[in-house]
Amino acid sequence: MPTEKNNFYFVYLANKLSLINQFSSFPNPSVGAISVFKNEIISTGITGQNGSPHAEYESIKNSKNKKVEKLYVSLIPCAHKGKNPSCAKIIKMKKIKKVVYSFDDYDVRVINYSKHYLKKNKVTINKILINNPCFNEIKNYNYSKKNELPYITAKLAISSDYFSKNKNKKYFTNKKALKYAHLVRYKNDSILVGKNTFEDDLPLLNCRIKGIKKKNKIFLINQNLKFSKNSYKHLTKIKPYIFHSSKNNNLIKKIKLHCNLIYIPCDLNKNIDTRLICKKIFKLNCRKLLVEGGLKTQELFFNNDMINEFLIVKSNKKFNKKGRLKVLKLYKNIKTKFKSEKPFCLDDNKIFRYYS
Ligand SMILES: NC(=O)c1ccc[n+]([C@@H]2O[C@H](COP(=O)([O-])OP(=O)(O)OC[C@H]3O[C@@H](n4cnc5c(N)ncnc54)[C@H](OP(=O)(O)O)[C@@H]3O)[C@@H](O)[C@H]2O)c1
Repeated sequence: MPTEKNNFYFVYLANKLSLINQFSSFPNPSVGAISVFKNEIISTGITGQNGSPHAEYESIKNSKNKKVEKLYVSLIPCAHKGKNPSCAKIIKMKKIKKVVYSFDDYDVRVINYSKHYLKKNKVTINKILINNPCFNEIKNYNYSKKNELPYITAKLAISSDYFSKNKNKKYFTNKKALKYAHLVRYKNDSILVGKNTFEDDLPLLNCRIKGIKKKNKIFLINQNLKFSKNSYKHLTKIKPYIFHSSKNNNLIKKIKLHCNLIYIPCDLNKNIDTRLICKKIFKLNCRKLLVEGGLKTQELFFNNDMINEFLIVKSNKKFNKKGRLKVLKLYKNIKTKFKSEKPFCLDDNKIFRYYS
């Protein structure tokens, strides 16, 4: 962390602040802002949960009647009035003379208009680029907005001999990797699983991190809407949206009592249409979907080019004869088609990230 109180120091802190609501500021990017006078911090602000208020507004409001000379902000301030007031206008009204920011919005109209507005009102603007994971979030949201599809992450845990299921064990990754799995759920706003995963595991699909309350939308694919008795109970518990292609009105009526059903026609190969599923998920206001398995569902999404990134959690354990659902074919395809990042270790488990 920089210590000298210069532009870099303050803009660095503004970027750090933006991380606080990184995953909960949708539909707006998470931003941090710091109001400064004579090299002293007067006040700070962050984008609120669900996108309001904007960080700049919050920081200026928190400065009360004190004079603010410079505003440091992780993303260029907006100049248009939407659900929130225009930050550039508030900067002008507060008579702030200088704005230092790190990142241009992906929307070119926003950048040009903001710059034009600030310059016209004699506010000096400076850009100091700082690597900030929130910018990836903005990129992903923009991908989602542009394509009217959620940004899709798939996550699969595998053994060191490339199985995704152990005949006898439900969990086979270590404690840290399980925690990491909950963090991945937290980073997304919706989760989808296949029928077998639902039936075999009866997963809660919630985010179990102490101190965090997050409710993701849950989606399930079950083409013919057939469920075992146990699963019925679980359906009423987690109330997923179910994508199906069934025309059995009795079943539809029965399950509709517990869950939302979404009819999706099959393609010529009798596969359920994954693109249409994703379009529906987008329409339900989800922008970041986690496809948590199992293997068949992930293959289906991967082969239809719907996945943007793949997380492989590799355990150090071999399953040998207890191994089920070999992932080698999918894994090889991911490696060929996607770029990779350097893996990182969670004790004896390794996390590999691949992205399109
Ligand atoms: N290692 C991990 O990270 C992980 C994660 C999740 C689950 N699992 C394990 O994996 C097992 C389940 O995996 P799985 O691969 O057997 O099943 P799955 O992916 O959970 O569900 C398979 C279902 O998806 C639908 N489906 C898949 N491909 C399709 C296609 N081409 N066209 C239409 N529908 C398609 C089918 O539904 P219909 O039958 O309705 O046609 C199929 O029964 C579970 O036992 C679970 O424990 C492991």
